[in-house]
Amino acid sequence: MKISYHGHSVVKIETNGKTILIDPFINGNELTDLNVDDVKPDVIILTHGHNDHVGDTVELAKKNDSLVIANHELATYLSWQLVKTHPMHIGGAYEFDFGKVKLTQAFHGSGLITDGNEIIYMGMPAGLLLFIEGKTIYHAGDTGLFSDMKLIGERHPIDLAFLPIGDNFTMGPEDAAEAARFLKPKKVVPIHYNTFPPIKQDPHKFVDMLDGCEGQVMSAGDMIEY
Ligand code: NI
Ligand code: MN
Repeated sequence: MKISYHGHSVVKIETNGKTILIDPFINGNELTDLNVDDVKPDVIILTHGHNDHVGDTVELAKKNDSLVIANHELATYLSWQLVKTHPMHIGGAYEFDFGKVKLTQAFHGSGLITDGNEIIYMGMPAGLLLFIEGKTIYHAGDTGLFSDMKLIGERHPIDLAFLPIGDNFTMGPEDAAEAARFLKPKKVVPIHYNTFPPIKQDPHKFVDMLDGCEGQVMSAGDMIEY
């Protein structure tokens, strides 16, 4: 399995010939190395309805006939755009042909801003647990720190955790370091920073704050192989 980071909250997983893309914010993301025309996801998984996470989902899904996995409200909305969807919700897990996905809670908003100056509320935001090839990957989505991260880590020992560190909209570096203490993953990769001025952070300072787990700063295009 190859797991690569592509700026902001974009994570790509390649497993058994399938490409899974999490939160594909490509157009407008100055930190990504991806191009909408080149990436061909079989599956897209969304943490919440904010535009910097839904990103290019509709275009990518239509072009590649991708299955979009998201919470019920967001999945329903996307199905109206004639996208193939699988709705889920917090606490629920489902076994797909590439592995198992479980939605966890996240403390954040989930409103999609449309071209028509409307904000459509897309249910609760989520974090993701992915069980693929015997490894457990946690993508926290956008969230503040919460103590039930302890429960998530206890119930599902985590190999690799992607945690937001940008502050302002999500956990900042100090809270994300505490999240790592709660979750006890083997490895942590910081995400959701430096994309916009209010979320400017030094990811190396965050990694230095970690104790009891390894931290890895990934640049766009960097890959972890299991
Ligand atoms: Ni958000
Ligand atoms: Mn965000």
